[in-house]
Amino acid sequence: MRKTLYRSLTLILLSIFAISCSTGKNETDAKIDKIISEMTLEEKVGQMTQITLDVIGNGEGRHESKVPFEIDTARIRKAIVEYHVGSILNTTNNYAMPPAQWNKIITFIQKVAMEQTRMQIPVIYGVDAIHGTTYTDGAIMFPQQITLAATFNPTHAYNMASVTAYETRASSIPWNFSPVLDLGADPRFSRQFEGFGEDPYLVKMMGLEMIKGYEGITDSIHTKYKVASCLKHFLGYSVPVSGKDRTPAYIPENVLREYHLEPFKAAIASGTESVMINSGIINGITVHASHDIITKLLKEELNFEGVVVTDWMDIINLHTRDKIAKDDKEAIKLAINAGIDMSMVPYEYETFCDNLIALVKEGEVKESRIDDAVRRILKLKLKLNLWEQAVTNISDYPEFGSEKSARMAYEAAAEAITLLKNNNEILPLSKTTKVLVTGPNANSMRTLNGGWSYSWQGEKTDRYTEEFNTILEAVQNEIGTNNVKYVPGVSYVNDGKYFEDVEDQFANAIAAAKTVDAVILCLGENTYTEKSGDLNDLNLSANQLRLAKELAKTGKPVILVLNEGRPRCISAIEPEMKAVFQTYLPGNYGGDALADIVFGDVNPSGKLPYTYPSYPNSLVTYYHKPSEEQKRAEGAYVYESDYNPQYEFGHGLSYTTFEYSNLKVSKKEFSADETLTITVDVKNSGKRSGKESVLLYSSDLYASITPDMKRLRRFSKISLEAGETKTVSFEITDKDLAFVNQHNTWVTEPGEFEITIGGLKTKITFK
Ligand code: BGC
Repeated sequence: MRKTLYRSLTLILLSIFAISCSTGKNETDAKIDKIISEMTLEEKVGQMTQITLDVIGNGEGRHESKVPFEIDTARIRKAIVEYHVGSILNTTNNYAMPPAQWNKIITFIQKVAMEQTRMQIPVIYGVDAIHGTTYTDGAIMFPQQITLAATFNPTHAYNMASVTAYETRASSIPWNFSPVLDLGADPRFSRQFEGFGEDPYLVKMMGLEMIKGYEGITDSIHTKYKVASCLKHFLGYSVPVSGKDRTPAYIPENVLREYHLEPFKAAIASGTESVMINSGIINGITVHASHDIITKLLKEELNFEGVVVTDWMDIINLHTRDKIAKDDKEAIKLAINAGIDMSMVPYEYETFCDNLIALVKEGEVKESRIDDAVRRILKLKLKLNLWEQAVTNISDYPEFGSEKSARMAYEAAAEAITLLKNNNEILPLSKTTKVLVTGPNANSMRTLNGGWSYSWQGEKTDRYTEEFNTILEAVQNEIGTNNVKYVPGVSYVNDGKYFEDVEDQFANAIAAAKTVDAVILCLGENTYTEKSGDLNDLNLSANQLRLAKELAKTGKPVILVLNEGRPRCISAIEPEMKAVFQTYLPGNYGGDALADIVFGDVNPSGKLPYTYPSYPNSLVTYYHKPSEEQKRAEGAYVYESDYNPQYEFGHGLSYTTFEYSNLKVSKKEFSADETLTITVDVKNSGKRSGKESVLLYSSDLYASITPDMKRLRRFSKISLEAGETKTVSFEITDKDLAFVNQHNTWVTEPGEFEITIGGLKTKITFK
């Protein structure tokens, strides 16, 4: 009887919400306020609590299914009915599960939430589906974000997110902790591959497309094909001084604003639904306790109205890790008062709930702060239409794992793989070439996908990817097994640490090289993410370098194929390599895409989205300062800076050639808000069709803060037939040339700027 009463109450409130959605924001908020007014403090705090799935069940996912996952009725009851927990995340025991199993689990959870609790509020389930629906067996695994960045074609970011939204919702999950908009400005960082590289503009443009793919070109998260996105990790996560995850970063405010904030700012303006906070420490303050960053900057200055969620265990970390709170209770007080709406607890939820309730009762946290958090969470649940659509049915998703989506993943990989070197045009190889395929990355689906693939660290990938082709298998398909020899030479220790590798038939690999026409040497990294991916030496491993050197000594041409989450230094072997590819982490279709490029079916068109360093002690982004690239000065003393990247940002070769000419600017002098049109002709001067990313840079010649050497302002990817010329046109205003000055304000200072496209330069003057 009581249950029916509350159900009708919820339904009435929901219909009021549906009507008010069409009648304006204030009315909607008033209705949410009404739901909140019915809630007890305990129920509100429960909504702010997120736990991991293992807290309410036991067992494993399908691929180790001797003990399949089962929800424990007593544990779920305690969490959802007694503690009113409003959100659950993650997979169970770190396994991908088929959609039907997801459906079963989430149906169970929602039934408890919507039938056994007083307020009958559905749970919001969140997951990390970062390059495809990571934890759903059978979903399409795209290239990782860093790989998509190398396409310089935001359509691929849109496609990936759109397929991922569909397949995540097909798994009954409506909330995705993606995209990563952190600036990949430090190649040592273990999560370099999760972002779009070192350039803020590229990160912004790719990120915006991902959000459209997740949430809809116009906000469609109420449909069963879209998910709420979650920008992460706000703010300045990716550049700790040590290069190691979740260690201190020191970032001046002007730098934070000019480089790190821009992609987030644009994404928030585009309407993203949620933001996850940086787990690290900036300028001595753990970001989860920073009222300045969470409330003043994010919620007030950027006017972010969505949900702010913590990262994993990060409230408790204020006490246990960073020692800025003397106990859990103080940690909770600091974080909630800083502006956190939901705590990814994810285990000890009683501690979080009991302490937060006590803090409110003691007046240490205002109930209005709790109401603000709950309002944001309920609004997201309503927008996602969770009351009507708490679970989905896989039969409504005929495109799940479809050929069409697989093709998109393949196309993305094929447009990303970057040809860094091609001495004497050794590539493409003819299909009659006899090759040795060797190296630890030659026969591994795990390394093609990277971390966050079927499991957190990616170590279970090979159990799920039988049907896909490793590099070796793809090369065999391309030229026939008779033309291919395979000897690993070096192998990863697959149950060891990600950086461990050992010799594996090393001498046989060298002997085999002597019997073939060319060697395809696949080196790089095994899979990792987060702290587990911390690194002590950016050089490629000693075993791998030695394998490369010994192979080169045979005199056979060695084609180096890199498959790695971050650019590991190869300067010790690079001069001896005849050709070099960067495949990044190209996903399940990466092997096929690479083989198609090596043997000439596809013309490569990827460009590096970061600076590839030569040495671990020479880590600079392309937008470094003039003093980092100083030419030798006059006189006896050598004030010279050796700017020595292995390959520059934006570098990438094609099997054809492109010639740039006729760089024109509509006006040589311009003032505030005037639009400049910049055009350039690009000709395919070679013999085969190809794609080219046209990159427009500007350089501020003199400025009150020493200016960057150059900055990417626009890009456009075009296709050209052999002999064809296209005119590419860009528009910019003074705002595109601005920087953040020493008073932390955006300015464009009057003076000269140089515009560079494809090696052509022209000067313009801002008055
Ligand atoms: C990561 C986040 C992720 C979260 C939930 C954390 O450890 O830093 O990026 O979304 O776990 O899995």
